[in-house]
Amino acid sequence: MSSQLGNPVGPDLRPGSDPDCQPLVRVQDLRKSFFLPDRKLDVLRGINLEIRPREMVSLVGQSGVGKSTFLHVLGTLDRPTSGQVLFGDQDVFALPDPALAAFRNNSIGFVFQFHHLLPEFTALENVMMPALIHRMAPAKASARASELLSRVGLAARLGHRPGELSGGEQQRVAVARALMMEPPLVLADEPTGNLDQRTADELHDLLMELNEQTSIAFVVATHNFSLARRMRRHLLQHNGIITEMSADEAEAHAASLPTRGRTSH
Ligand SMILES: Nc1ncnc2c1ncn2[C@@H]1O[C@H](COP(=O)(O)OP(=O)(O)OP(=O)(O)O)[C@@H](O)[C@H]1O
Ligand SMILES: [Mg+2]
Repeated sequence: MSSQLGNPVGPDLRPGSDPDCQPLVRVQDLRKSFFLPDRKLDVLRGINLEIRPREMVSLVGQSGVGKSTFLHVLGTLDRPTSGQVLFGDQDVFALPDPALAAFRNNSIGFVFQFHHLLPEFTALENVMMPALIHRMAPAKASARASELLSRVGLAARLGHRPGELSGGEQQRVAVARALMMEPPLVLADEPTGNLDQRTADELHDLLMELNEQTSIAFVVATHNFSLARRMRRHLLQHNGIITEMSADEAEAHAASLPTRGRTSH
C-alpha cells in the first residue's frame, strides 16, 4: 500500500516477533443470549480472547455456532448480555450509543458475505461513506477512496454502481470501504462465501497482502480452509466458547463436531 494511505508498516508487532506487544483488543467472559418468546438461546457462553496489532486470525466452526454473533458483538454492532470488550483500556460497551457508533466508525472495518454496499451510490461514493459520516472534507475523502479503489484493482470502476460490478468487484469495494478510516481492526464474516473459487482466491490474496502491508489486524470468519490455513492463528468456535488450536485441529473439529444444544430454559 502506498505511503499516502497512512498506516505505515512500522516495526513487526506480530506475536513471536514481539511478545511484549500490548493487545489491541481483549475480550473477557463475553456472553450473548437471545431471548425468544418461549426460551433463552445462549449463543456466546464466556469467550476470552486477545488480538494483537497486525494479527491475521481465522474463526471457524460449524454453521449456527455463533461466529457472526461473535463478530457483531466484537465489532460493537450489538451489545453483549455480559462481559467486556476492551480496546486498549477502553471498555467500549461502557460508552453511550452515539460515542460507541463514533468509535466503531473510526476503529473497526467490516467486510460481510454480502457486501452491503449502497446500491444507489457509485463505488467511489460507497468507499467515501465512512469518511463523510466522520465529516472528512469531501475532496480528501474522494482522493483517499480513489486511491484505495486503485489499491484493490478497481481504478477503472470508480463510477460504477454495485449493480454494474461483478461479485468479486463488489467485495473489493467493500474491502476498500473497510479500510477507509484506517481502522486498527477489520472483521470479515465469510468474505468470500458468495464468490467462485478463483475470485475467492484473488480476494484471499488481497486480504493477505493488506495484512502484510498495513498495521491492520484481521479476524476472518470462514468456512473456507484454504483461506483459514493462510493465517497465523486459528480459532474454533464451539458450544458457546472459542478455543485456539492448530489449523489441522480446527479443520477436523469444524468438520466433525455436532453443534450441541445452546438452549437453556
Ligand atoms: N437476532 C437473533 N435472535 C435470535 N436468535 C438469533 C439471532 N441471531 C442469531 N441467532 C441464532 O444464534 C445462533 C448463531 O447464529 P450465527 O448467525 O451467529 O451463526 P454462525 O456461526 O455465523 O453460522 P453460519 O456459519 O451459518 O453463518 C443461530 O442458532 C441463530 O439462529
Ligand atoms: Mg455467520
